[in-house]
Amino acid sequence: MEFLELAKKRYSVRAYDNRPVEKEKLDKILEAAHVAPTAANLQPVKLIAVQEKEQLNKLAKAANIYHAPLAIIVCADHEKAWVRPFDQKQTTDIDASILTDHMMLQATELGLGTVWVCYFKPDIVKKEFHLPDNLEPVNILVIGYGKEPEASSERHAATRIAINDLVSYNYL
Ligand SMILES: Cc1cc2nc3c(=O)[nH]c(=O)nc-3n(C[C@H](O)[C@H](O)[C@H](O)COP(=O)(O)O)c2cc1C
Repeated sequence: MEFLELAKKRYSVRAYDNRPVEKEKLDKILEAAHVAPTAANLQPVKLIAVQEKEQLNKLAKAANIYHAPLAIIVCADHEKAWVRPFDQKQTTDIDASILTDHMMLQATELGLGTVWVCYFKPDIVKKEFHLPDNLEPVNILVIGYGKEPEASSERHAATRIAINDLVSYNYL
């Protein structure tokens, strides 16, 4: 599938059936994360793939994961991430989000639905999954087979700002 076609096809799925995600598909999604770029290639990221019922229930204490059969907690490692020397900005969120986006689009290509979740209680995630202090849960990528009709690939003209408002070629 051409990239733009895939990007337009992706939409947030918030209703899943209980069909599990096949191991080969999960492996491919994780491989997409593995090849993602990070600042200075420091790879300050840890993924927790949550599939077992008991673990999903733990995660559901922190976030709405829409009863999906799989969720990947994307954590950033504050001890490993690159820091820009001019203003000390750390690239944790950026690195974690590039991996998340790679996985989300790979999942789409495999016919899976996803929703990117940031509305979660980080303290609960840290406690339930015994994360050390250096690991911050940044994103949760919820994955599974959607059980509702797909959103249209043509919806962006109505759901996004105009491209002219998004892009400036000369000045802001
Ligand atoms: C950084 C980020 C955080 C998000 N957090 C949530 C969330 O916590 N819960 C949720 O249901 N959707 C969440 N979303 C999904 C957005 O609401 C959704 O992508 C947006 O409304 C555009 O719709 P679309 O994905 O169907 O194109 C998040 C998306 C992004 C990129």
